[in-house]
Amino acid sequence: MSENNSQTDPKDARGESSGGLWGGRFSSGPSPELEALSRSVQFDWRLAPYDLLQTKAHASILAAAGLLDSDEFAQVNEAIDQLGRDVASGDAQADLADEDVHSALERILVERLGPLGGKLRAGRSRNDQIATDLRLYLRVQARNIAQVVTGLQTALVQQAATYADAPAPGYTHLQRAQPVSFGHELAKHVHAFSRDLSRLQNWDERTSVSPLGSGALSGSALPLDPESVAEQLGFAAAANNSIDAVSDRDFVAEFLFVTAMIGVHLSRLGEEVCLWASKEFAWATLHDSWSTGSSIMPQKKNPDIAELARGKSGRLIGDLTAVLTMLKGLPFAYNRDLQEDKEPAFDAVDTLLVLIPAVTGMIATLEFDTDKMAEAAPDGHALATEIADWLVARQVPFRQAHEIAGACVKLADENDVQLWDLSDEQLASVSNELTSEVREVLSVQGALANRTTRGGTGPAQVRNQVTQAMEGVSEFAAWGIQAPIPNAPDWLQY
Ligand code: ARG
Repeated sequence: MSENNSQTDPKDARGESSGGLWGGRFSSGPSPELEALSRSVQFDWRLAPYDLLQTKAHASILAAAGLLDSDEFAQVNEAIDQLGRDVASGDAQADLADEDVHSALERILVERLGPLGGKLRAGRSRNDQIATDLRLYLRVQARNIAQVVTGLQTALVQQAATYADAPAPGYTHLQRAQPVSFGHELAKHVHAFSRDLSRLQNWDERTSVSPLGSGALSGSALPLDPESVAEQLGFAAAANNSIDAVSDRDFVAEFLFVTAMIGVHLSRLGEEVCLWASKEFAWATLHDSWSTGSSIMPQKKNPDIAELARGKSGRLIGDLTAVLTMLKGLPFAYNRDLQEDKEPAFDAVDTLLVLIPAVTGMIATLEFDTDKMAEAAPDGHALATEIADWLVARQVPFRQAHEIAGACVKLADENDVQLWDLSDEQLASVSNELTSEVREVLSVQGALANRTTRGGTGPAQVRNQVTQAMEGVSEFAAWGIQAPIPNAPDWLQY
């Protein structure tokens, strides 16, 4: 901070440290230990463009209220745009004497504008500023996350279409249960991610409320215009309760629930890829560019992306837990504890934006051994349900049909043969309802083709499902490239 400024701004009278926002009633500066603890600028600087954006909107209101004359407003506006460009290029930086992003930007504006820069704090507090910045930032990042998630969904849909006709064993309890279309298996993940994206859109509607104008906690005696600021920043409304507006972090917790849920979905997908790529299953081959080797075992090809997907779900859940725990029992209104909301939120965003593109590449390049999967599909008497359903179609009560099919399994096991190898005599020995015609349903292709109900695994159904799912994905992708902030200045890079 220059000498010149410390003479012109009484808030700076206490000297070099603290960012100069609150010196007036103190006779000594903060201890270095306090400064080190208190400082958030090293991580909240990423909010600088959003903070400048709201300063620009705020300045327009100060001008409309006559608190900045037209000449001052023009100067301020120009300085904000220039600073926005300098932040984007890296020419303007925070330094370690700055406490947080707000104090850093005010310092630079005062350096550039002189005392005029100090007018922009009127009617605002860092409490409503930070709540506004974080909402703006997360609304933008929600869309960036939607873009990478829809990229992954597209890869899954394409693979699902490729393998719609490929039979594979389907599992319950990780035991072979009934044959399924492998495309069906892949497509299920698309639906899980679509729920996440719908959660994000929902969240976005709730988060479209501007806290600016709430001041420290009680609103402002100055003639501000929160509705107009809200509109300029792309929010649907201004907050109805200033105390709630500055202390509410539901939007952070809820955002982190969605990112944790995405993490859990990625982890379940990752676990499946690990299984499929194992020698025990040997269904999937990982592409060389999307797998890793071992430093000691030359033969190894490891599914590290899938494992990291599984592992990183832990930190995403941790981010949510950290924020919920921080909020629990917090009294109204702003408390400094709330500063702990940002690192988990940033971590969740960064984690997903680096993880999902890698998972996408891995999925898009996976190759599956359809012969191997088809061979395994009927194994473990996975067609036993077909016998029961065949009997039900002949009016046998399912309870009895289940017993009969079970007896067939037992007999096949005792003779070490497959169900379709049972002779007519053997079938008849189990039940006189069983004729040789039952063998017609004892094929994997038949079992799959019969599952024509909505959402079933019949290949025709799977193809329909995939087409429909892709329509939903395209809508989410369109939302993902939508700009949440209207008429954003060129320096605001999403
Ligand atoms: N750095 C603070 C945060 O992230 C900004 C708000 C500070 N407000 C205050 N009254 N000290 O929460």
